[in-house]
Amino acid sequence: MNNFFQAVKLTDDVYWVGAIDWNIRDFHGYTTPRGSTYNAYLIMADKVTLIDTVKAPFKDEMLSRISSVCDPGKIDYIVSNHAEMDHSGCLPEVIAAVDPERVFASAVGANVLREHFAFDREIIGLKDGEELSLGNRSLSFMETRMLHWPDSMFTYLKEEQLLFSQDAFGMHLATQERFDDEVAAAILEYEAATYFANILLPYAALATKLIDRLQRVGIRPKIVAPDHGPIWRSSVDRIVSLYGRWAEQKPRLKAVVAYGTMWHSTEAMARAIGEGLSAGGIQVKVMDTGVHHRSAVVYELLEAGALVVGSSTLNNNLLPHVADCLTYLKGLKPKNLVGAAFGSYGWSGESVGQIEETLRDMKVELVGEQVKAKHVPTVEIIARCRRLGETMAAEVKKRAV
Ligand code: FEO
Repeated sequence: MNNFFQAVKLTDDVYWVGAIDWNIRDFHGYTTPRGSTYNAYLIMADKVTLIDTVKAPFKDEMLSRISSVCDPGKIDYIVSNHAEMDHSGCLPEVIAAVDPERVFASAVGANVLREHFAFDREIIGLKDGEELSLGNRSLSFMETRMLHWPDSMFTYLKEEQLLFSQDAFGMHLATQERFDDEVAAAILEYEAATYFANILLPYAALATKLIDRLQRVGIRPKIVAPDHGPIWRSSVDRIVSLYGRWAEQKPRLKAVVAYGTMWHSTEAMARAIGEGLSAGGIQVKVMDTGVHHRSAVVYELLEAGALVVGSSTLNNNLLPHVADCLTYLKGLKPKNLVGAAFGSYGWSGESVGQIEETLRDMKVELVGEQVKAKHVPTVEIIARCRRLGETMAAEVKKRAV
């Protein structure tokens, strides 16, 4: 095996041996304009251990980076923290190439890996809290079920105070820089928040419990090594604190008006609602779902207190890109929102009722009066839209932290 690709040292004994995916732009519906990385880590302990692998097409890049440190055949253990295929896709081939002594995953992970791959060898299921000696180093494992798959777990390298956190604390950012202090803080926080909103939001309550648990059991990592994006070594406290804040989903003085328009009537209504929100002292993002990707809408919603959705009626339905965005938002289960629906129509006008139904399903508290416009909004209707924005602003202020 060549070593055209180099490992990057995290500590004396731990190396990043992952792969950079410069060109990925879609992650099951989450747009990734900056690409991503699949992080794998090599621990050069008495028992040489590989933490996670990479997406299948990047196997050779990972093996090449491992070869820059040691012969991959010297790997004794492989630990799979997360079975999703961006981290396990090449596991069968790596096991075949390396022939490790033992392969570990969480108890659930062992089953999930067996369900993905027809393994002809044992995957050892680890218990929550179990420890594993690597000779001169030791690992402990913590189940993190539903963050964000049932199999997910953390691995902690005690001697280095290094937490391998799989998807948690990660981000989709392809970069040659491996550490947080090498990347602009604004990019890190934007991409970390976007990742949280698009991947972890449905399980936010579990993130709060997990952070509490880390503190309770005395895990205070100096380094957090996620499965995507830069490794946290300089701002560990900052990212953990941001996770705590995002997970709480406490509404702030912010609102998102998401809409789709055919001939600018619904757009005019959206702009008037936005103006009313702004006049009421609320930061507002007015987003045409035909222009802004659903991932960008959910990023803006992460700390918002209101979601106002509008659509023209097309063939007795929502505009397709509004329906797309709403379906995505519904799945991500944002909490603590007030909301309202609006829209224009030509003759049937079902869109507003359909939006309200979805918002109710999402447990968004509907406030203010529904506003509909036939063909083109009149001055009176635009005034009602503005009043709706002002009403919404007052409701957000009552609830915001
Ligand atoms: Fe990065 Fe859930 O896989």
